[in-house]
Amino acid sequence: MKPRKRLVLLLWMLVCSATTEAIEPISTSIAVGMAAALTGFLASYQNILYYFNECCRPEWISFNRTGLEADLNRKLFGQHIASRIILKAVNGFMSNENPKKPLVLSLHGWTGTGKNFVSQLIAENIYREGMDSSFVHVFTSELHFPHSSQIETYKIQLQQWIKGNVTNCARSMFIFDEMDKMHPGLIDSIKPYLDYYDKLDGVSYRKAIFIFLSNAGGESIIQTALDFWTSGRIREEIELRDLETVLSLSVFNNKKSGLWHTSLIDKNLVDFFVPFLPLEYRHVIQCVLSEMEARRIPPDKNVADQVARDLIYFPKSERIFAVKGCKTIESKLDYYT
Ligand SMILES: *[C@@H]1O[C@H](CO)[C@@H](O)[C@H](O)[C@H]1NC(C)=O
Ligand SMILES: *[C@@H]1O[C@H](CO)[C@@H](O)[C@H](O)[C@H]1NC(C)=O
Repeated sequence: MKPRKRLVLLLWMLVCSATTEAIEPISTSIAVGMAAALTGFLASYQNILYYFNECCRPEWISFNRTGLEADLNRKLFGQHIASRIILKAVNGFMSNENPKKPLVLSLHGWTGTGKNFVSQLIAENIYREGMDSSFVHVFTSELHFPHSSQIETYKIQLQQWIKGNVTNCARSMFIFDEMDKMHPGLIDSIKPYLDYYDKLDGVSYRKAIFIFLSNAGGESIIQTALDFWTSGRIREEIELRDLETVLSLSVFNNKKSGLWHTSLIDKNLVDFFVPFLPLEYRHVIQCVLSEMEARRIPPDKNVADQVARDLIYFPKSERIFAVKGCKTIESKLDYYT
């Protein structure tokens, strides 16, 4: 390591730890003093900020309510229920200085309806580094826990990861993708962390956020949306309570997803079940236009129409909902522009 880099790293460690409670006031002020001196010394170097690493401090982690609200309104399409619940849940949790348990959200819905995207929006409005933050952790069963024969090893590993990361930073976020493919034993192993414990082995998990993504209940959500459409009612009239029962019923009836769900519901560990509705043609158009804006190309309604027309819709006769939602839009757009 080059001396300059080593110095910056030392500075970072001092600054990062300057506010942790474990440090006594005197050593804190020494640390701050040294940090200030070092900063003065290093300020003459360019690119110092480049080296400046992310810390578990309010400069790097703070919730932007207006940001999340604006993002949900502007970038998430066709999800009036999810939008509302997410904002309320995250805002309530982040404004509570002393939450009684970690925030646990379970997002349900078909592919491409925005579950991953919403997790990203939440991360971006809490962590300055967004999904790249070292305090945001994404687990996918196929990637992290592929072999069911090694489940016992995975359990220990996952527990150690969660414990280690929350010890490092209480405001850590864990996203579990494809929860329905996760081995039920693994879910069991993380249950204690989701519960109302003051501390487990000296670590408090109450400021952490857990987000579970799954297709479980997706079919019942689609059925409800379809029923509304068939009876000529507008989609925005669908309310959470129209979906809550179908969601929990299908979840309980479905053997595969039932296992993990039942035990999480039984113990009330999940704070919010968030349904994602299937997307219609007009939402796909919005997704394409939004993607164009993000790429800084002029929004073109014709191209958006072309992209949306090329997708597959169901039910076959009525062609109402996009089979893959907004999922394949990015690659399709490359092709048309
Ligand atoms: C919060 O988000 C809004 C909207 O994106 C943005 O204008 C504002 O600068 C953000 N505030 C902070 C403190 O980052
Ligand atoms: C934090 O989690 C990651 C997985 O996302 C893991 O690789 C890492 O070892 C964990 N850190 C600690 C300190 O346990």
